[in-house]
Amino acid sequence: MTNPPRRMKIGINMVQNGAHNSGWRHPDADAGIANDFKGYARIIKAAEEQKIDFMFLADGAAVRIPHKDAEELSRHGHIDRFEPLTLLAAVAAVTDRIGLICTASTTYNEPYALARKFASLDHISDGRAGWNVVTGWSEEEALNFSRDALMDHSERYERANEFFDVVTGLWDSWDDDAFVRDKAEGRYFRPEGMHLLNHKGPHYQVRGPLNLARSPQGHPVIAQAGGSGPGRDLGARIADIIYTGQKDKGIAQEFYADMKARVAAAGRDPDKVMIMPGIMPIIGTTEAEAQAKLDEMKSLVHPAVGLQLISKMFGDLSDRDPEELMPLPLPESNGVKSAIVQWERRLERTPMTIRQVYEEISISSGHNVCCGTPAQIADLMQDWFEDGACDGWNLMAPYMPGGAEDFLTLLMPELRRRGLAQTDYAGDTLRSRLGLELRPNLRSGDAQSASDEAIAVSH
Ligand SMILES: Cc1cc2nc3c(=O)[nH]c(=O)nc-3n(C[C@H](O)[C@H](O)[C@H](O)COP(=O)(O)O)c2cc1C
Repeated sequence: MTNPPRRMKIGINMVQNGAHNSGWRHPDADAGIANDFKGYARIIKAAEEQKIDFMFLADGAAVRIPHKDAEELSRHGHIDRFEPLTLLAAVAAVTDRIGLICTASTTYNEPYALARKFASLDHISDGRAGWNVVTGWSEEEALNFSRDALMDHSERYERANEFFDVVTGLWDSWDDDAFVRDKAEGRYFRPEGMHLLNHKGPHYQVRGPLNLARSPQGHPVIAQAGGSGPGRDLGARIADIIYTGQKDKGIAQEFYADMKARVAAAGRDPDKVMIMPGIMPIIGTTEAEAQAKLDEMKSLVHPAVGLQLISKMFGDLSDRDPEELMPLPLPESNGVKSAIVQWERRLERTPMTIRQVYEEISISSGHNVCCGTPAQIADLMQDWFEDGACDGWNLMAPYMPGGAEDFLTLLMPELRRRGLAQTDYAGDTLRSRLGLELRPNLRSGDAQSASDEAIAVSH
């Protein structure tokens, strides 16, 4: 039997108001969409018509924009957003096939509560749920969760590893056929089909079982995003999808090779773990039209927003005229040093104004921005896909809904015409549609069962 041709996996990363930080100001943007479920639902249904594999929601439980005061913050659009699991449960009710993946942090949740929520979403959606496992990065979230500062990086990852094991252990609380619900016999479940977890670790103590039957996928699809050594190791051990943010093909190829090697070293099949960078397509029917759109988007960045955005890397420039050249050398910073060095070299070669710098940084949100005709954008996506840089893409709209409509109606048909994107959904669950590893219940037949009495039962 021959294997079917490898196809791109495609997600739609639904950033509220669009991924461009000033996208909400675009003439075709619905500036209230972040709080408008019907608006979201329309886009997701259109994505399902285009056979997009899944919708993806990034998240943080805070307004994560550092700011001096409300006046400064009031210029920003990325403020309000729905709680993602709540949103996905509602989306599940109005869609049938598209996957539903959202972010939840292991730093600001309890594993029992989260295992229950994702298992519930998997039931509600008939096997379409996915969890993007993150440890968080912002000080602002810490302040909302009874802490004074962001937890240390290594502790965050230590907790993430244990958290994940507890969640997956809870998902295996019940054999697939444990619930017999035999009315005549008066037996609701087979006792030997229940497995207590009895986890006692450095950070969590969880008895189980989960108060929900095993879900259609057993384990919802696992996505992970984090680029450091511990982040990559966590991804290699647990993830089905690695969400990433490279802009340069060479760097993406290095990341791809490194991740696949780590997956193999973790004893898993590298072909079953998808590397999916974000991409923001800016699409025109001609190259000039696309460039005009990009220029228009750059012009939407309010100076206060732009200056705040670059202050971490370039220092406080709020007293400068944005039309001045960016002053060099750049200040010492605790931020991403490699990025600062790259900028310094570039500005030494080609001086840019402060405005030009923040406009460029604003548009990208750290991801690949690809500006051109549908064919030009498809060329880049195909090249990376076929040249060992990715297994698919997470599409990001610069503004909503127009930016998403552009790639759904113009780019997706081009990818399908090339045989790169699927023409229909195949399989019963998100996991099977993506061709991922099935996760059998490893605790099925486990000697440890309901009779295990490590912890007394109480109501
Ligand atoms: C592409 C990408 C997307 C991410 N998305 C989120 C997110 O939505 N929410 C969040 O709290 N952290 C997010 N993170 C942060 C990571 O999960 C991780 O907590 C952080 O990057 C620190 O880990 P690292 O040093 O391994 O990158 C993201 C990271 C990357 C690289």
